[in-house]
Amino acid sequence: MSTIDTAPVAANDIDAASDPAATAAAGSGKATSAPAAATSRAIPLTGVALGIDVGGTGVKAAVVDLASAELVSARVREKTPQPSKPEAVIETVAAVVDMVLAEYGPVADLAVGCGLPGAIKYGYMKTAANLDKGWVDFDATSALSARLGRSVHVINDADAAGMAELAYGEAKGHEGTTILLTIGTGIGSALISEGRLVPNTEFGHLLMHDQASETLVSGVARERRGLKWKEWAAEFNEYLAMLEFFLWPDRIILGGGVSKRSDKYWDHLKTNADLVKARYLNTSGIIGAAYAAALAAHTEEAARKPARRPPRKAKPSTSARSTTAATPKRS
Ligand code: BGC
Repeated sequence: MSTIDTAPVAANDIDAASDPAATAAAGSGKATSAPAAATSRAIPLTGVALGIDVGGTGVKAAVVDLASAELVSARVREKTPQPSKPEAVIETVAAVVDMVLAEYGPVADLAVGCGLPGAIKYGYMKTAANLDKGWVDFDATSALSARLGRSVHVINDADAAGMAELAYGEAKGHEGTTILLTIGTGIGSALISEGRLVPNTEFGHLLMHDQASETLVSGVARERRGLKWKEWAAEFNEYLAMLEFFLWPDRIILGGGVSKRSDKYWDHLKTNADLVKARYLNTSGIIGAAYAAALAAHTEEAARKPARRPPRKAKPSTSARSTTAATPKRS
C-alpha cells in the first residue's frame, strides 16, 4: 500500500483556456484528451472544476471543490433528449451548464470535464450502447468544446466514477487491482491498477450466457426481467465470479443506482476480493469528470513547463576563498 504525498495543486492556476493544443483542437477537430492524462496517478488538487455526467436517461452537472470533492453549486439535472443524437444531447449539456454557472457565478479558467457512456479514444466516442448510434466515432471533445466555448475534457462515465473513488473515495491509497462497477442503465467499469486508471474497460459487455452481461444484470435489466433481489444477486455473483476469474482483483467497488438499494442484496453477494460500496453514488460521474479535467489540465501544464535545471555549483576558487576569509565585511 502506498499513500499519495504530492503537494496540492490549484486547478484554477492552470490556464487551460490558453492551451494552444486545446484551443487548436476545439477549432480543428483534433482531440485534446491526452491518453497520458487519463492514466495519471491521482494527486491532491485544489480550486474548483465543472463536472458533467451524460447518461442514457439524464444529463447532470455541478461545480466541484477539488480539495474536498464536495459539490459547491446546485446539481442541475435534465432528461437526456430522445432520440439522443449528439447535437440534441450537446444542447442539453449547454443548457445544464448555463444553469449551473448562472447560479454559481463566473470562474476564470474553469476546467470542464464530461463523462459519456461509451469508450473514449483521443476524445472521440467509439461506442454508444445506451445513446443514439450517431455518437459512434463522434468527435465529442471538439463538439462540446465548440458549443461551450471552453476546452472540455471527455472521459468514459464509469472511468469518471473510478477517478472519483481513486482521488477521494474507496480506491484511494489502495495498490493492487481495484474494479469499480456502476450498475444502472448499463454496467460501467473502471479498472485501477497500482493507483492508476486503465481506461475504457467496458466489462459490462463481457458475455454471460451468450449475451452482453449488462443486458442481463444491470439495474434496468433486473427491472425489465422482473427479477427479485435475491435472484438478481445470484446472477450478479456469476458475473462477479467471471471478473474475478479473469482479473484477480483485490477490491471490487459497487456504485451506480442499484447501490442505493444495497440493503436488499448485499448479504447475498460473494467475492474473494474485498467488496465495498462506492463512497459516491449519484455524484461520482460529476466529481470524477471535474477531477479528471483538472488533472489533465495540470498534466498538460506540467508537460509545457521546461524542466528545471539543478542549480550550478560554485567552483571552488582558492583566491576567492582567501579573499572572503581575509577581508572582514565593512559596515
Ligand atoms: C457503456 C459504457 C458505460 C456504461 C455505463 C455501457 O453500456 O458501454 O461505456 O460506462 O454503459 O453507462
